[in-house]
Amino acid sequence: MQKANIDWANIGFGYIPTDKRYVSNFKNGAWDEGILTSDDKVVISECAGVLQYAQTCFEGLKAYTTEDGKIVCFRPDLNAERMVDSCKRLEMPVFPVERFLDAVDKVVSANAAYVPPYGSGATLYIRPYMFGSSPVIGVKPAEEYQFRMFCTPVGPYFKGGVKPLTIRVSDFDRAAPHGTGHIKAGLNYAMSLYAIVDAHEQGYDENMYLDAATRTKVEETGGANFLFVTKDGKVVTPKSNSILPSITRRSLMYVAKEILGLEAEEREVYVDELKDMAECGLCGTAAVISPVGKIVDHGKEICLPAGMTEMGPVTKKLYDTLTGIQMGRLEAPKGWIHTIV
Ligand code: PLP
Ligand code: COI
Repeated sequence: MQKANIDWANIGFGYIPTDKRYVSNFKNGAWDEGILTSDDKVVISECAGVLQYAQTCFEGLKAYTTEDGKIVCFRPDLNAERMVDSCKRLEMPVFPVERFLDAVDKVVSANAAYVPPYGSGATLYIRPYMFGSSPVIGVKPAEEYQFRMFCTPVGPYFKGGVKPLTIRVSDFDRAAPHGTGHIKAGLNYAMSLYAIVDAHEQGYDENMYLDAATRTKVEETGGANFLFVTKDGKVVTPKSNSILPSITRRSLMYVAKEILGLEAEEREVYVDELKDMAECGLCGTAAVISPVGKIVDHGKEICLPAGMTEMGPVTKKLYDTLTGIQMGRLEAPKGWIHTIV
């Protein structure tokens, strides 16, 4: 198969339209059978639920070309399940897990020319999403919905690839206790835009959000969970009901414990402890594991001993193992790799 004419090594995390996307509509209480289409435009009511009250959620996963030339996807079942949770919390109809998985296969197969080659440094990002498409003016759920899935080749989420990031402790909150931080609602991202633009203007790569109730505990960033490595080599990740249950983070905690034989713990992490950490990374589908070199807490600089030039040694081991599994260089735990082509 002829690959698309793309300079794979130099693309960033942006939108490059591909040939086909999947669309299914929910009407009269049922999903239609869904189609692949070349039409990248969405036509909905001016009063659609998504446009008035942000009734929308999304997912993000990636397809990879493995060392032996297959096209695979990483744990798509967990994205399908998390989307079910998001839909339920937003009073949207659930898109069945099997149909989500079938749509991933269809979209990736139809756009195989856009799956970056092995070793190129790029991957195919898949974006499933759903929104209320019928009119609502009183505050209530829409009656009709559209589920869509497109894909786009992407490079690293953060400019500079794996160069350690500088982040700041944010004065803005991302999620309230008992709110929507644990689901992938579009509204969580809309309200983070002010904070991210401000962070960038002040020279930071990202925000570290704290728990809104006490502002003493680390939550996550706008698009990734945190992983820390303590000075005695333990991998620690914040436990909270108001952060997104990252599939990458859950996978890395398993890799740390079961494959690398490290101690790994999910627990509350206090801002006061940050100065004692040896390494820090942001983990997620888009971020993979992006190392953090410096955390700035209201003028106080916390410099991670791992430094500003490269990933710390434990982060690097986690990164190499995870990407090794995703690219087919290392044996995957059962059920983690789904072969598409
Ligand atoms: N946290 C937030 C807020 C995110 O948007 C994402 C991305 O999906 C993650 C964490 C990482 O989750 P995952 O590893 O499932 O991509
Ligand atoms: C992902 O990692 O898939 C995400 O959705 C993060 C997003 C903010 C790009």
